[in-house]
Amino acid sequence: MKKLRNIKKEINKSKSVKNNTINKANSKQKKVYDILKSTTHNLNERVKELNCLYSISNILNEPSLPAEKIYNRILKVIISSYQYPEITVVKLIVDGNEYKTKYFKETTWKQSKPIIVRNKKIGELEICYLKKCRKADEGPFLKEERHLLNSIVQLLSQFIGRKRIENALQQSESRFRTLIEKAPVAISLSRSGLHLYTNKMFLKMFGYKSNNEIIRRPVLEQFALQCREEISIRTYLREQNLPVPDVYESVGLNKKGSEFPIHVTVARVNLEDGPAIIGFFSDITERKKAEEEIKESREQLKNFAAHLQTIREEERTYISRELHDNLGQSLTALRIDLHNIITDISEKNKKGDLNSIIKQAYDLISIIDSTIQTMRNIARELRPSILDNLGLLSAIEWQIREFSKRSGMKCRLITALNKINIETEHSIGIFRIIQESLTNVLRHSRATEVTIKIFEKEINTVVAIKDNGCGISKNDIYSTKSLGLLGMRERALIFGGELLIKGDKTSGTKITLKIPITKN
Ligand SMILES: Nc1ncnc2c1ncn2[C@@H]1O[C@H](COP(=O)(O)OP(=O)(O)O)[C@@H](O)[C@H]1O
Ligand SMILES: [Mg+2]
Repeated sequence: MKKLRNIKKEINKSKSVKNNTINKANSKQKKVYDILKSTTHNLNERVKELNCLYSISNILNEPSLPAEKIYNRILKVIISSYQYPEITVVKLIVDGNEYKTKYFKETTWKQSKPIIVRNKKIGELEICYLKKCRKADEGPFLKEERHLLNSIVQLLSQFIGRKRIENALQQSESRFRTLIEKAPVAISLSRSGLHLYTNKMFLKMFGYKSNNEIIRRPVLEQFALQCREEISIRTYLREQNLPVPDVYESVGLNKKGSEFPIHVTVARVNLEDGPAIIGFFSDITERKKAEEEIKESREQLKNFAAHLQTIREEERTYISRELHDNLGQSLTALRIDLHNIITDISEKNKKGDLNSIIKQAYDLISIIDSTIQTMRNIARELRPSILDNLGLLSAIEWQIREFSKRSGMKCRLITALNKINIETEHSIGIFRIIQESLTNVLRHSRATEVTIKIFEKEINTVVAIKDNGCGISKNDIYSTKSLGLLGMRERALIFGGELLIKGDKTSGTKITLKIPITKN
């Protein structure tokens, strides 16, 4: 009996253990079930959020949609990802423009976030529930919904920032294009020697109708055959970033095959897709023509000046000879005759009646003598015969002696040469330049001393005339009124020489004449 009772006890005990175990198992199962349910719900919510972000990013990446469409679509996507879509309304403000979903109304159940681009608030995203809902983490909103809102706003900020940069780029590119199109100079953009782009002016200059005719064609085709080798070497060097002239003149070739002179300026530019060459071309036909004309008229003027100088020297030589030979001879004859008459009269003048007449006649002889002297001086001044008879160096020595005598100024010649090696026909020009320089020293310098050095240096014979006077001023050197200096320069030019004038208040004036040496 006792045993039976014990057994019963045991059975009851094991029954309650079993019940306990069952109860325990049941509550565990329920917990697992609950966790599973909430996890599934949460996962669904996350999927919704992810879908939302994915859709928004797809919409933002559609290239051709206008802003209004983009924003309205995004608002719809946002609604569907909130817990209570049927009572969710959204408003988006971008740059002062408002985009709203239907029935939008601001309520107290609101979640919002400013849109910031480059540290500046440019708009806001606002989400409201139209009715009061069950309380969650943030009013009626879930913590995850706040995260979602943040992510959406971040996507929008990035999108708007990127759009702005693209717009700015587009604007600057269109400005750049207009600038290039409207530029009054022909422009070509090229790479590896092939045109990438040319402007209207370029097409016009080279006789093409449209860019299609020229794009991806060699730039060399716009250069005359004889220039192509040089240009292609330059293009190669430039593309290697090696030193090469950026500005040069060349010969262009138009579509019809006519050549014309061009001025080219080139630069290397770094484009997004690699370095390229930009070239600016100007047609310089007119300029070249004008330059040619100026050169020609200068040449004419030079020849004319040379011609005038020659005529002048010929005239002087002629007058000098006439004076010396004709007038000189006549005067000498007159003198001889007069002398004979006087001798005759003197012999017959036994009584001494004609003494006064004889005296007068002797006076006449002295007048004739001094006239002969004056005439000789004039003749020599006009054309120093010493130049023709003894050469330039002797003529200069004589000139210096005469100058010292006349001016009382110390005048020295320093030279180691015994002959000046220049074309004989140029002797008179050099002689005259020295003459004019010495006259200037006498007239303007207030010098006490003047030195003339003659020496050979490299390919030139150099004549340097230096005084110790007040020094010629810069104004006088370059003044168009300094006709004496101008004449000197002109003479130097005629025989291919050069004349340099320098003045200094403390050391005086120095005239340097360089004449190319010619060995006879
Ligand atoms: N050796 C010199 N020293 C100082 N001044 C000079 C000298 N030579 C020329 N000049 C200045 O240069 C000017 C121009 O000289 P130039 O052309 O020979 O004209 P001009 O002798 O007829 O005045 C002179 O008027 C004078 O003022
Ligand atoms: Mg003078």
